[in-house]
Amino acid sequence: MYLVLLGPPGGGKGTQAKRLQETHGLVQLSTGDMLRAAVASGSDVGRRAKAVMDAGQLVSDEIVIAIIDERLDQPDVAKGAIFDGFPRTVAQAEALDAMLARKGKKLDLAIEVRVPDEFIVERITGRYTCAKCGAGYHDTFQKPKVEGTCDSCGGSEFVRRPDDRVETVTKRLETYHAQTAPLLPYYEGKGTLKVVDGTREIAQVTRALEDILGGIG
Ligand code: AP5
Repeated sequence: MYLVLLGPPGGGKGTQAKRLQETHGLVQLSTGDMLRAAVASGSDVGRRAKAVMDAGQLVSDEIVIAIIDERLDQPDVAKGAIFDGFPRTVAQAEALDAMLARKGKKLDLAIEVRVPDEFIVERITGRYTCAKCGAGYHDTFQKPKVEGTCDSCGGSEFVRRPDDRVETVTKRLETYHAQTAPLLPYYEGKGTLKVVDGTREIAQVTRALEDILGGIG
């Protein structure tokens, strides 16, 4: 199954993709994570992407489409994947349809995790991850069971993203509404769009997603 998770920055796409990855064996493909890895490696793509990401704007379609195209050739995604943070423009969505078609596959579903803007600043500014394994946490909504210790790997170092500042969040939301929200009518027109209420607790959002996935087998 190939599934796109749509929604605003900090809306919970990554949190839910990781949970579905565990329960459904689908590989999470996060272009944000891939771009951050490119930045950390100091590659040419990473250098070009860094300033754009820090400013809350979108990296060029050309770069992210090339990254996904290459990733879709790997055998671990032959049976399915969850696209998290991709596509983000109509051009990317059209490219994804074409890439999957070339491989004899198609996108089964696009699910919007709907979260109004007023929730987003608190979600993003409270976010942090384990420096060792990348497990995600939140100052209020998703604390580790033992303070200062990662539930997944026992690590004790945590990091916050450079673009998770209030000023950048506002820009990222503007970018979302201008460039990514048009994907909602795009997928609605194809009959593949479903919506879940992303304002509920994390486990409730997962249950709503599970219900949709269960419904398509
Ligand atoms: P990316 O990494 O994709 O960032 P984003 O879309 O802004 O999404 P986030 O990862 O910030 O949020 P999320 O929805 O995954 O939320 P999360 O689950 O962490 O992209 C970063 C940048 O890279 C972009 O700005 C752009 O520059 C570039 N980029 C990436 N892809 C691109 C593309 N395709 N094209 C062009 N440029 C691209 O949740 C957030 C917090 O809330 C967490 O702490 C979590 O614990 C908490 N939380 C989650 N769900 C709930 C809940 N239900 N209730 C309470 N708290 C919750």
